[in-house]
Amino acid sequence: MLPIHLLIYTEVVMTDEVNSGRRRLLTTVTTGVGLAGATALAVPLVASMKPSARALAAGAPVEVEIDDLAPGQMKVVEWRGKPVWILRRTDQMLEEMASVTGQLSDPDSQVVEQQPAYAQNAHRSIRPDVLVVLGVCTHLGCAPSKAFDKGGSSGLGDDWVGGFFCPCHGSKFDLSGRVYKNVPAPTNLVVPPHSYVSENRIVIGVDETEATA
Ligand code: FES
Repeated sequence: MLPIHLLIYTEVVMTDEVNSGRRRLLTTVTTGVGLAGATALAVPLVASMKPSARALAAGAPVEVEIDDLAPGQMKVVEWRGKPVWILRRTDQMLEEMASVTGQLSDPDSQVVEQQPAYAQNAHRSIRPDVLVVLGVCTHLGCAPSKAFDKGGSSGLGDDWVGGFFCPCHGSKFDLSGRVYKNVPAPTNLVVPPHSYVSENRIVIGVDETEATA
């Protein structure tokens, strides 16, 4: 049994050691929290240096060469995660397209949201021969198919002059992406903003008015 003053001293020393241990623990925890906080602050900082999700979703313009596109041929590129069709129409296609306007819901492209002002014309394009349109059905977003074969062999009627057919619910579009009457799709296909940087080079996503401004 230790004398009472030694007991008190031992208690004080132990208490100091415990407090010292607590201080060390607190220091460690505080430092850890500080580092964690700094890391937590650093992550949003690094994240903020990357392109934002909104910027990625917005998508960059896409340039497309069309000098390899023969009359009657179509190519597909992706812009903002959606297919964009580029069709070089023949003179015959343009003539036959004009013959079906009575069967269309919006032959004059009156629904202005479906195309830029510079594509609100008979051929829905800047150049009559080159159609640029989103390959996304305006009903529920399926991908329509090319239906360029004409007449009965197309399966779309003897008077079919070529266009696009959506297999999901049977919507039909002409070679300008104008929707036929009496089908589920309510509007013409969307013409995206686009412009020409040279005779055979199109940039999808840059409006003609921006390109010429
Ligand atoms: S999604 Fe094309 S007709 Fe329904």
